Amino acid sequence: MNEKNILPREEVAAQEVYTLRLRQENDAYATETGRRRKAFVLTFGCQQNEADSEKLAGMSLSMGYVLTQTPDDADLILVNTCAIREHAEQKALSIIGQYKHLKAKNPSLLIGVCGCMVTQEHRKDDIKHRYPYVDFVFGTSSLHRLPQLICQKIEHGKRVFCPEESEYLVAEGLPIHSESSYRAWVSIMYGCNNFCSYCIVPYVRGRERSREMGEIVREVSELVNNGYRDITLLGQNVNSYGKDSGYPYDFADLLCELDKIEGDFLLRFMTSHPKDASRKLIDVMAASKHVAHQFHLPMQSGSDPILRAMNRHYDTTKYLDTVNYMREKMPDVTLTSDIIVGFPGESEEDFEATLAMLERVRFDMLYSFIYSPRKGTPAAEKEDQIPPAVKSARFERLLATQNAIALEKNQPLVQKTLRVLCDGVSKNNPALYAGRTEGNKIAFFEGTPDDTGKYVDFLVERADAFALYGKKI
Ligand code: 5AD
Ligand code: SF4
Repeated sequence: MNEKNILPREEVAAQEVYTLRLRQENDAYATETGRRRKAFVLTFGCQQNEADSEKLAGMSLSMGYVLTQTPDDADLILVNTCAIREHAEQKALSIIGQYKHLKAKNPSLLIGVCGCMVTQEHRKDDIKHRYPYVDFVFGTSSLHRLPQLICQKIEHGKRVFCPEESEYLVAEGLPIHSESSYRAWVSIMYGCNNFCSYCIVPYVRGRERSREMGEIVREVSELVNNGYRDITLLGQNVNSYGKDSGYPYDFADLLCELDKIEGDFLLRFMTSHPKDASRKLIDVMAASKHVAHQFHLPMQSGSDPILRAMNRHYDTTKYLDTVNYMREKMPDVTLTSDIIVGFPGESEEDFEATLAMLERVRFDMLYSFIYSPRKGTPAAEKEDQIPPAVKSARFERLLATQNAIALEKNQPLVQKTLRVLCDGVSKNNPALYAGRTEGNKIAFFEGTPDDTGKYVDFLVERADAFALYGKKI
């Protein structure tokens, strides 16, 4: 057992006293009024945040709240924020601003803000000074302290600004509440050591810490036993899993172990760093029973000088080598990527190199972002920032190039039959049901309520750049 990264069990257990106290208080309120206090959890950002929010929801249930889908009738609001781009922060701040009137209507409402945005001191200060009705603020190292913070606020009346821990330790054993009964996320590691020059993550989520293999195997086995069908392993850089803790096993070994679990399920993982995506990992995937043939491999840029300036530690030759090996071993693999346009100093030539790489690699799907300077990161200090109009124009060209490629990649799937895990009625297209293929492509079809959470055989009749359309057979 590696003690270095793991929060002592007693510290997690210490929260149980606060949890129990709140549970008794919330039970008494329910008996008195015939109404249970409600908690609303709002999440911004990536899957890691979604996974953290499942813990916030789990803790809220343990404290005797019921969960609600709207802030309007909530007694406790928790906003789990993101810091990856300016836009994510502005969205969270604007929503937090809207809660002012809820607090005015219901002074006993408790509002807590947590996550990556408020792990930054300047944003914590913003909340302190500009949002006086926010009751407590806690960063990513203090997620497990939620019960204590609520107790503190209730008992002393003062707002609570939880100081950041100097060490970010893994808190095992927190209750998890998942909205889905068939898709799950499992964090296998936290934090990042890479310090890509544009990225805020290492500053707000600390250094890499891996969970022990035994804990992960136990969690995934339990999910499979409980009927979960699609399990995504999460980490900022899953390929360096285990290295931080000196475990005698790596990510490929972990996948191998998880692949032994019996049942009808798929394993996915994100995110991989191209500098660490090993042949061993690809070999394990190709030989596995449960690992989906889907790979998210953020390229960020197709220009070697820009990759260097980004501190990415690979070049386009190395990237192509990994992709070629992957396609050789798994010809059916779905490949997706992240691209940033308008990184400081990106010339027209650099940008065209990125477009050329898109044509060469031919991703199935791309998450594209306009570079957003993040306070405290080296790239934000650079003089040669790209004007917004240039960034936007490049972004449009990137999308146009990728959309044409995605359409060409999806067309050959027409008339094929694919296995799709159904997610129920589509939010964007309520006349149809939606699901995901093994390659994580979106499939639309006419379904029935009974299909939700099950695999259906899906005949592709039509494809566009973003989705497949067809029928159940
Ligand atoms: N600006 C724009 N995009 C960013 N990303 C990370 N930091 C920034 C930034 N400052 C993108 C990267 C990463 C994805 C999750 O977000 O492409 O892979
Ligand atoms: Fe950010 Fe780079 Fe770490 Fe990904 S690998 S979280 S982009 S610093």
